[in-house]
Amino acid sequence: MDKFRIRGGRPLEGAITIGGAKNAALPLMAAGLLTADRLVLANVPLLDDIRTMGSLLAQHGVAVEKASNDGRTLSIGGPITNTEAPYDIVRKMRASFLVLGPLLARIGEARVSLPGGCAIGARPVDLHLKGLEQMGAEITLDAGYVNAKAPNQGLHGATIVLPFPSVGATENLLMAAALADGQTTLANAAREPEIANLAECLVAMGARITGIGSDTLTIEGVKKLHGATVAIIPDRIETGSYACAAAITGGSIRLNNGCITHLGAVVRTLAEAGVDITQDKGGVTVSRRNGLHGIDFITEPYPGFPTDMQAQLMALLCVAEGASMITENIFEDRFMHVPELNRMGARINVHGASAIVRGTPHLSGAPVMASDLRASFGLIVAGLAASGETIVNRVYHLDRGYEAAEEKLAACGANIERVAA
Ligand code: EPZ
Repeated sequence: MDKFRIRGGRPLEGAITIGGAKNAALPLMAAGLLTADRLVLANVPLLDDIRTMGSLLAQHGVAVEKASNDGRTLSIGGPITNTEAPYDIVRKMRASFLVLGPLLARIGEARVSLPGGCAIGARPVDLHLKGLEQMGAEITLDAGYVNAKAPNQGLHGATIVLPFPSVGATENLLMAAALADGQTTLANAAREPEIANLAECLVAMGARITGIGSDTLTIEGVKKLHGATVAIIPDRIETGSYACAAAITGGSIRLNNGCITHLGAVVRTLAEAGVDITQDKGGVTVSRRNGLHGIDFITEPYPGFPTDMQAQLMALLCVAEGASMITENIFEDRFMHVPELNRMGARINVHGASAIVRGTPHLSGAPVMASDLRASFGLIVAGLAASGETIVNRVYHLDRGYEAAEEKLAACGANIERVAA
């Protein structure tokens, strides 16, 4: 298993190109199941999770082909020959569960493995299943699989009020509703930018959706969807992650293609901590010329502060002046990076859903263990500022969601290298 070796202390200076959003590309790839035509996606990031989704679609009979030399444009299409999503793929990548809605809507049946839990929480899928049942699906569970069947005349529209604005449930139900008979209203829907990217993709394919960007989506089902060419939005979490890396080193970097509007709460929170982020037409510039100070923040559904940025900002606040209180409201176990940061000299105490971070003037390098995708980047942020050497183990977590992170950071002056195990 590869690891990263980092020697901290160098201010980052230079430019990094932000790729397409992993959490938009995955549902948009699943949307390829909704049509027999070709769906072409541009600005797709080159990530392990994208390759996993490609293999999943391929075993459904739907080919995912490179449509550009750099591999960032994918052409998705083909007849669905298998409606089962197997455990060995779904357990590796929970977003595989997003094939359930499209398969059910297009074919009328699906057998999809339950994803199971992961490092950050139990991750139930009850909201996905209840919403599909409201649309007429008959759902049974056996041997760790969801067996779903649509009525003979197909799924029908429904008024679904989500008790929590679940991103995945919104995406599965939005895709199912696009081909359902009649009108579906999704109330208390997730509002993350990736949802709007998916909704706009479906509209480009012929779906009839209103309320895009709001917490109430109304979908008039259509009989068929056709092919389209759609661009993936820039990755807001990658943008925020590199912003934290620049800030902790006291440097200044330009994030090409970065989009500040998708990062509202992150920009405000970072500014409170002493980090300047400005947008111009080509991207975002991040710098920190003065001291960092402790702040309090809570993670919330969009447009609140995103849980996917919690570990990275916590790492930054480890070296801020004063204390910070961080409350993780989305996942029940998303503090796995805390003991690792404390091994580097951070002073963090966790009480239930909250962590108190007492700032310390500096961190010291140590061998640490990555536990999940975003925690991995948090440990890198800490290593970039720590004195001495930091070894981040199990960077396979990182490779799922960050393209060439070590190369992008090294190009800005970081002393970081990948050590093949
Ligand atoms: C998506 O996961 C993202 N993944 C996550 O990013 C992100 O952290 C999360 O949304 C929140 O923003 C992708 O888009 C592929 P949820 P998802 O359904 O859809 C509870 C990353 O690092 N819940 O909004 O699984 C759930 O337990 C990943 O890129 C139910 O109770 O998130 C959690 O507490 C990590 N029942 C909360 O809602 C359900 O049926 C948020 O889950 C569904 C969710």
